[in-house]
Amino acid sequence: MATYFMEPSRTFSEFLLIPNLTTKDCNPANVDLKTPLVKFKKGEEPSISLNIPFSSAVMQAVSDNGMAVALARCGGISFIYGSQSIEEEAEMIRKVKSYKAGFVVSRSNLTPDHTLSDVLELKERTGHSTVAITEDGTENGKLLGIVTGRDYRRSRDPLSKPVREFMTPYAKLVVGKTGITLSEANNLIWDHKLNCLPIVDEQQKLENLVFRKDYDEHKENPLELLDTNKSYIVGAGINTKDYMERVPALVEAGVDVLVIDSSDGYSEWQRETVQFVKANFDVKIGAGNVVDREGFLYLVESGADFVKVGIGGGSICITREQKGIGRGQASALMEVVAARDEYFQETGIYVPICSDGGIVYDYHITLALAMGADFVMLGRYFARFDESPTRKLLVGNNFVKEYWGEGSNRARNWQRYDTGGKSKLLFEEGVDSYVPYAGSLQENLDKTLGKIKSTMCNCGSLSLDELKQKARITLVSATSLVEGGAHDVILKESSLSED
Ligand code: IMP
Repeated sequence: MATYFMEPSRTFSEFLLIPNLTTKDCNPANVDLKTPLVKFKKGEEPSISLNIPFSSAVMQAVSDNGMAVALARCGGISFIYGSQSIEEEAEMIRKVKSYKAGFVVSRSNLTPDHTLSDVLELKERTGHSTVAITEDGTENGKLLGIVTGRDYRRSRDPLSKPVREFMTPYAKLVVGKTGITLSEANNLIWDHKLNCLPIVDEQQKLENLVFRKDYDEHKENPLELLDTNKSYIVGAGINTKDYMERVPALVEAGVDVLVIDSSDGYSEWQRETVQFVKANFDVKIGAGNVVDREGFLYLVESGADFVKVGIGGGSICITREQKGIGRGQASALMEVVAARDEYFQETGIYVPICSDGGIVYDYHITLALAMGADFVMLGRYFARFDESPTRKLLVGNNFVKEYWGEGSNRARNWQRYDTGGKSKLLFEEGVDSYVPYAGSLQENLDKTLGKIKSTMCNCGSLSLDELKQKARITLVSATSLVEGGAHDVILKESSLSED
């Protein structure tokens, strides 16, 4: 006979925090959001901790090397998507590990044969005002020139004018050479009154761009997440199919931590994958996703360094309606946290938990942390920012960014789903969508962190540990949900905000 769980499974929106006494030292400036990423023994320090409890989802539309750098700069971690070739994923890891603050990869590139119309279209799409002109139009091709707004007159030049006729050619550019430091680059920028300095190697191949505006920004990143070599820490997604080839390549590229990306992690495939990695490599590995005690203990006993929780709650996810599996995210988290705490009591080993998916409002993050998650994983949240790898488009009067699920046909990520070796998806578990464009990661994250810290002060907590111990969480009725937002008033345009 089936086993029934007659308690309805709950989502974050059904809970609120009740304030505790706020003591005078409870000031957001004193709140520390440091949190463990991987398991550790009681009394010891985890080998990797995050400075903010944020990770970006293992998704094509979210976590590439650009996002990984941007998030590590702020203290969190990205897990680069595994639904690409092994070589491509390893290359992204390499780019993050060799990234130097202030030296950016040129994201807008054309060839001299392109036209003014191509330049305008590219600028519109990326928002970048500097376009590198390389022999093959790639970010590391031989640099032949640069185009900025000063190189053409929109009102006079024909749209068909070839780039070669109006670009600033290489011979007239001031460039830096491989190995230049950020402060040397900055001196060149100031001496020559430049906005942007291209860095090239001995063959004139473009390596990076250094922008005048970035210098000050890069001087202060107190929370950046660095390894002992001062490179950014980065994660990578793997699957349970090609791990024997993928993991060695990622480890070779310098990855700090792996995670098995799957919609349902309670499987023998995950056990085998974790055991293979543990037996052969000195690299940390997370597993998931699970939604109950049994799934959690199975993965922990298999050797997982952290466990991801969540099935069916992702914003682009249609797993629940397609397959009828899943659990409300809050209920899943509460059960897994209880199992983790019990496991800690019994063994003295603390296994961090990641609450993955379904975060809609910023306060959901605080709730997940209060319920015992050590960090959250977010897809939709990060997809909205400049740093996500997808296109920014104008739809109607609004800018949007594309965002699609790993289980959608667009992602072609059949390895994520244990389809018994079949090489294509039988049905989709995710959708292809847009999310409202929201600007830069740092700006948005600062706002979200401000809210989390402020709520923690309301709860009398200066650390995440304290929050977990002290949190008092109440279930809310459907009727009181209505009272939670602005109600019974006519809102002015300016007070409508998306979060
Ligand atoms: P979000 O933050 O609510 O957008 O959820 C992101 C999470 O959704 C990811 O971290 C994955 O766990 C999950 N996910 C990603 N792609 C799919 C999909 O196609 N179907 C179901 N879940 C997905």
